[in-house]
Amino acid sequence: MTNNKVRTGFAVAIAAVLVAGCASSLNPFAREADERWADYKTWTKITEGKTGTGDPTGLIKTVHMGPEGYRDVYVNDIGKAAIEGSAPYVFPAGTVVVKEQFSSKANWEAGKKPGVTVSIKATGGDVVNRDDWIWATSYTGKAGTSAFCAGCHTAAIASDFVFTHADFLATQE
Ligand code: HEC
Repeated sequence: MTNNKVRTGFAVAIAAVLVAGCASSLNPFAREADERWADYKTWTKITEGKTGTGDPTGLIKTVHMGPEGYRDVYVNDIGKAAIEGSAPYVFPAGTVVVKEQFSSKANWEAGKKPGVTVSIKATGGDVVNRDDWIWATSYTGKAGTSAFCAGCHTAAIASDFVFTHADFLATQE
């Protein structure tokens, strides 16, 4: 074998390993979830015992899987006291709120993999718009400013851009 053939054979073997790696769930190129919410499943689920569906605010439209969707909300320890407290709702920097959304009741009950959106109250290092929140559109998404998210959440400006707080939940079944 010439040196060239050895090299080609080696390259083919490496490519095969890479392809096999990509096909498995241990894809080394998959983006990791942001550490600010990677472990959100261990947080306080403020919608526990609630059936989060319909359109209680009349604003949901096509986002968060719409009025037919089912939704759950988790908060980290930094924001827990504020979200479970009472008005005026003002969230400390570093608050993270994660919303899980399912397209149907069956998927929600079965605990199927949800869509995830995330609101993060900015801390010193974050670049922000006037809302002081940054937003992510998926579990492995990147948090950043969003006129789209902030625009609609401005309807909840009196409660610091968060809809799902204790008073809101008290009105839900
Ligand atoms: C068209 C309006 C609208 C847009 C756009 C929107 N949301 Fe929401 N969002 C809502 C409403 C209404 C609720 C809460 C009540 C509900 O589920 O009906 C909510 C709830 C949430 C919650 C749970 C905490 C809370 O504020 O109640 C998170 C997290 C969230 N949204 C993130 C996002 C992110 C991230 C985006 C942008 C990708 C976004 N939202 C875009 C309307 C919107």
